[in-house]
Amino acid sequence: MQITFGTILKPLAMLSALLLASPCRGAGGDLLINDFEGDSWGSWTATGEAFGPGPAHGTLTGQMVVDGFLGRGLVNSFHGGDGTTGTLTSPPFKIERRFISFLIGGGMDLKKTCLNLLIDGKVVRQATGPNDRSGGSEALGPEAWDVAEFSGQMAVIEILDSATGGWGHINVDQIVQTDTKTAKVVASAGREFLIQKRYLNLPIKNGAPRRSVSTIIDGRTVVMNDIELANAEPDWWAFMDMGEWRGKKVTLQVDKLREDSKWLSSIYESDSIQGSENLYKEPLRGQFHFSSKRGWNNDPNGLVFYKGEYHLHYQHNPYGWPWGNMHWGHAVSRDMVHWKELGDVLAPDKFGLMFSGSAVVDARNTSGLGTPQHPPLVLMYTAEGDPTVQCIASSTDGRAFKKYNGNPVVRQITRGNRDPKVIWHAPTKKWVMTLYVEKDKVHTIHFFSSTNLTQWTLMSRTDGFFECPDFFELPVDGDATRKKWVLTAASSEYMVGRFDGTTFTPETAKLPGHRGQGFYAAQTFSDIPKSDGRRIQIGWFQTETRGMPFNQSMSIPLELRLLTTQEGPRLTWTPVRELNSLHTTSKSFKPGTLDPESGNPLSGMAAELVELQAEFEPGAASETTLTVRGATIIYDAAKQELSVNGHKAPAPLRQGRQRITIFCDRTGLEIFASDGLTYVPMPFIPKPENLTLSIQMKHGTATFTKLQVHKLASAWPKN
Ligand code: FRU
Repeated sequence: MQITFGTILKPLAMLSALLLASPCRGAGGDLLINDFEGDSWGSWTATGEAFGPGPAHGTLTGQMVVDGFLGRGLVNSFHGGDGTTGTLTSPPFKIERRFISFLIGGGMDLKKTCLNLLIDGKVVRQATGPNDRSGGSEALGPEAWDVAEFSGQMAVIEILDSATGGWGHINVDQIVQTDTKTAKVVASAGREFLIQKRYLNLPIKNGAPRRSVSTIIDGRTVVMNDIELANAEPDWWAFMDMGEWRGKKVTLQVDKLREDSKWLSSIYESDSIQGSENLYKEPLRGQFHFSSKRGWNNDPNGLVFYKGEYHLHYQHNPYGWPWGNMHWGHAVSRDMVHWKELGDVLAPDKFGLMFSGSAVVDARNTSGLGTPQHPPLVLMYTAEGDPTVQCIASSTDGRAFKKYNGNPVVRQITRGNRDPKVIWHAPTKKWVMTLYVEKDKVHTIHFFSSTNLTQWTLMSRTDGFFECPDFFELPVDGDATRKKWVLTAASSEYMVGRFDGTTFTPETAKLPGHRGQGFYAAQTFSDIPKSDGRRIQIGWFQTETRGMPFNQSMSIPLELRLLTTQEGPRLTWTPVRELNSLHTTSKSFKPGTLDPESGNPLSGMAAELVELQAEFEPGAASETTLTVRGATIIYDAAKQELSVNGHKAPAPLRQGRQRITIFCDRTGLEIFASDGLTYVPMPFIPKPENLTLSIQMKHGTATFTKLQVHKLASAWPKN
């Protein structure tokens, strides 16, 4: 492997260098001012609400994960959220060492969220957290003040939180007087590469302070990302796809970097991504749930069928394990089961981060972004800047995408309006877009129309839904003459009703959606051919995969239907039939009755990736317990209730019968009952060595008309 190193650019602004001392407990004559390991503030004085009754033990309710502090306790002014204020003041102490070092994180506001050193009541030194915009990180990072000039004087430390908006809090820990001068942080550093290979591999340290990294080509910054740089040993490697810049000189420029950091020098060019030999074989890689090669994913975006392929775009942080740097990732499939990840198609730009949205095939070329022979695929997305606006991008091959020159196509209504979902409304021959808008503290869905995807007119609104709307028509019980509209959003709750091309008229209250956990922001595919006619949904499956170079995944594809019940038409979720292609060995058991004394019919089986189907008529008071690799699924016939690892969901019998399908992957379960009226997604990590399955009856019998176990193949390519 040939590694081409460019020149290391000299640090540009040594002037604004900060001093960094890594605080080491009690070593070399260090004097501890406070490590916040006590249960109360002790001799320190707190005012207001923000700091709480004493040191916090890590992350507080509603806060992103706080890390980078030492021990158990720290100062965290997020008590009661960002809205609270207060101060925390030390008793006077004498300055007896050259430096005061500390760990600091949270908001970046020298007046409102700061750590101050006071001498004679005057502020002589200040520090803040690194965050001044949405996103960012709760990690604390080391900083230090040079206080040599105040030697022998009495001083006080004051921690201030008078901010009430976003990032209106501060985190501090491990305040130490020390003479140890360690690494400096230089204000800016960079490295130039002559791009000869496909990828730059970038070392990442989870929880390290996020630094702003600019990618500069021909003197122009093409993208900026916030990255947790590994100064030494990385936790994992991200990659930046340099395909389109081959032969060019590219500079990566970091806003702040430790002088001793190996980050820039460890970056290497290669035609493969670091760790590719292990790709898709990682221990916590869901084997039939899509996840990104590297980094974080949340919402599915731009689900569309175009030129024979299903396209799955998704909220992607290519350079971090947690949320951040929102790009649109992209994968394609011919069956929605076997996915091939291509590169990201939308990167943050001057309008902001690339938030969620949808895709449509503009078959009549109404936008003029393609030709009648080559109808364009049009993506509509939110650019999350200030203002927050809606934009479009297009492609005529489903590979290369171009942002529209006339962006934005919808201006801000209120800050944070987002997640456009576009459909073609055939009866009125126009595009209809649903958009989430918070108006006067009310969560609303705004309905817009357009004839060309570039000019949009507000038509109406429906209240009561938050984020990621979706809107589609479905036949009731498969009868095309009885169609209803469904309005749903991120939580998967929904309303059924009518739509006249302008206004949605609900005929139900807001109804519960999925009945499990960790399923959010689902979206349905656009442009599935009429001859197929299915409405298929994929949701963000919140499967946390610690220790992996990727995080989160997608649900399996789910077919949605409206089914008549006593209460009216209700949504059902069922696994798409394409998943059958994963069956390897299948075993069907003979129909029969099980009672509490029966042995476990599944005792001889061992399976890692499983689909289990059971259809049974349960006796009145019976409890049927299925276990799959340590997960416990109980059907209580008296309560007509399903329990999945203790989480309860209503599951009515249908004509006296229950049908349960269980999918088990390395990171989660998806369980279907009551003909799809009950869908229970559940993040769950089975122990690798536990491959057992069982069925056991309690308080009665059950007559099984079907019992099948399918072992499943991995859906990933064998590389
Ligand atoms: C939902 C969401 C969307 C937003 C996106 C940002 O999970 O908050 O509303 O567009 O995530 O990643």
